[in-house]
Amino acid sequence: MFKKLATGAAFALAMIPAASYAAGGAGHVEDYDFSFEGPFGTYDRNQLQRGLQIYTEVCAACHGLKLVPIRTLSDEGGPQMPEDQVRAYAADNFSVYDPELDEDRPAKPVDHFPENNNAGAPDLSMMAKARAGFHGPYGLGLNQLFKGMGGAEYIASLLAGYTGETKEEAGTTFYENTAFPGGWISMAPPLSDEQVEFADGHANDVEAMSQDVAAFLMWTAEPKMMARKQAGFVGVLFLTLLSVMLYLTNKRLWAPHKGKH
Ligand code: HEC
Repeated sequence: MFKKLATGAAFALAMIPAASYAAGGAGHVEDYDFSFEGPFGTYDRNQLQRGLQIYTEVCAACHGLKLVPIRTLSDEGGPQMPEDQVRAYAADNFSVYDPELDEDRPAKPVDHFPENNNAGAPDLSMMAKARAGFHGPYGLGLNQLFKGMGGAEYIASLLAGYTGETKEEAGTTFYENTAFPGGWISMAPPLSDEQVEFADGHANDVEAMSQDVAAFLMWTAEPKMMARKQAGFVGVLFLTLLSVMLYLTNKRLWAPHKGKH
């Protein structure tokens, strides 16, 4: 019954044309299939590693990840880099100010990714949770119930959503973008085809890289997603078992008093 209702509702929602969510200046967000979606979804370790590489080579020039400790790159469920690689990665890519030495030194795994807001670029640590890809319809939020919040979808759509049009306003260049609310963003298109080379030769067109870095930013915003889902699953299993046992106990307790009239 419920399933039928839910399918019916999902169908009805799918019938509402995309243009109706675009009303009010919200952009178009593509509903990508990420590996971490659904109740049993998990992060794809290789995708997170590619996303980290894209962040490091491209986005880190402007955006910080100041809430993310570098050591978490070796955590289970994340990019899971071996600890010696994380140490080398930190030292090779970032330096931090050390108040004891009173100078900059190469970063260590215990440090966080550096802060950076070059050209007014916002910190990306929590961006995938700060943005919702799906809204409505009509303020009901039902799309989020069926498709998820869509923070990663929003980021991927944003990076792949440049039309190539630009305009100048008060000395600032704005770039037309189909995902950005309002349609014009001051971030120049950060990705271009084949900009980053992956060791395993994985696809490196804008579309593929947008999804990889979006998945990585979902992980920075919610590194314990897999543990949370697992705990939820164990909880549901436990409650189901408890219900069965209570039912049987109840039946047994009442058995002597039943059918004796
Ligand atoms: C040259 C600097 C620069 C680079 C490189 C850059 N960005 Fe940005 N980014 C910006 C600026 C500036 C803004 C603020 C734009 C605005 O609000 O108009 C921004 C905004 C954003 C936003 C927030 C959009 C919103 O909804 O407010 C996201 C997400 C983002 N960038 C992701 C990335 C990713 C991922 C990369 C790497 C692939 C990247 N950026 C590379 C400068 C940069």
